[in-house]
Amino acid sequence: MTRPPIDTPSRRALLVRGAQLAAATAAPVWLSPAQAQGQALRPTPSQTEGPYYPVALPADTDADLLRNGAAAYGKGQAAWVTGTVTDTRGTPLAGGVVEIWQCDQDGHYHHPGDGGRADPAFQGFGKVTLGKDGRYRFRTLRPAPYSGRTPHIHVKVKLDRQELLTTQFYVQGDPGNERDFLWRRLGAEGQAALTRPFVNGPDGMKAEYAVVVQA
Ligand SMILES: [Fe+2]
Repeated sequence: MTRPPIDTPSRRALLVRGAQLAAATAAPVWLSPAQAQGQALRPTPSQTEGPYYPVALPADTDADLLRNGAAAYGKGQAAWVTGTVTDTRGTPLAGGVVEIWQCDQDGHYHHPGDGGRADPAFQGFGKVTLGKDGRYRFRTLRPAPYSGRTPHIHVKVKLDRQELLTTQFYVQGDPGNERDFLWRRLGAEGQAALTRPFVNGPDGMKAEYAVVVQA
């Protein structure tokens, strides 16, 4: 007695048809979960630029703020600040630029308005051009407080010459947040969008901020 062939033409046809059905019914891979559900993402709230955006950009503007040229900065707590930038449909902002700037561990900005006292080894400003995945990653300090403000990192998102967002990132659980007038002004939803924990992981301390812009 002969056994029936395992892969008959009709069985092959069924398999092909099944694969076609699966491909037709699954969400296309280029859609984010938000897009697939037809929901718009809420734009990240904007905040004031503050007085210390660099007057002149430093010679070194890369994503590692703990090395300024050949100098290495050793104060404070080193941290990765990372995340994604998308539009309200969840599409990564490929080609966009994320800039951050912040004070050194002693609370000084590289800015003449702050007396030019910042440590020259701390780069204080960095920028990243987003790839197709919309991801950014900076090596910097867990932000330090300075007089009158809770720890924060200033952030700008640009696309070509257009400024899409200026805001500030905060540290979850910092006791200064509740006393900070700009943090309090955000309200619960804005605070949730801009305040993240700095947590220790295999690569060291890290905080992740998802940013949504109207592009
Ligand atoms: Fe500031």
